[in-house]
Amino acid sequence: MKIALGADHGGFQLKETIKAWLVEQGYETEDKGTYDEASCDYPDFGEAVARDVAAGKADRGILVCGTGIGISISANKVRGIRAALCGDTFSARMCRLHNDANVLALGQRVTGAGLALDIVEIWLHTDFEGGRHKTRVDKIMKIEEA
Ligand code: RB5
Repeated sequence: MKIALGADHGGFQLKETIKAWLVEQGYETEDKGTYDEASCDYPDFGEAVARDVAAGKADRGILVCGTGIGISISANKVRGIRAALCGDTFSARMCRLHNDANVLALGQRVTGAGLALDIVEIWLHTDFEGGRHKTRVDKIMKIEEA
């Protein structure tokens, strides 16, 4: 599975930690930046990762900013993207089971690295349940057509 990664300066450190863990686990990664802690704009990276996932260049995306809020809002503007901001493992599991979230967002200033890695692991290992949840996800995606 190929994972696209993105962060602003507020999420850079956690993005690096997640990238190292993913590589260690054998995942292919595509780092869309940022590449240092110089101040930058989270929409640029939210969009870059979202576009890779939407185009099928990556299977999933992981985004980090200070809170995870701005970068998840940005990613959700791209057609085909369902970005979920998670700060706990229950939400990480549920956003896969029920919402088929294809992008995970985290807040470096909110969630510690240990918990963040647990969230990432659960999110990567949980499959979409389909069934009645597919009907609902289809309705979400139809909103984009309006
Ligand atoms: C950057 O200071 C901060 O605003 C950004 O990382 C994020 O938290 C925005 O939602």
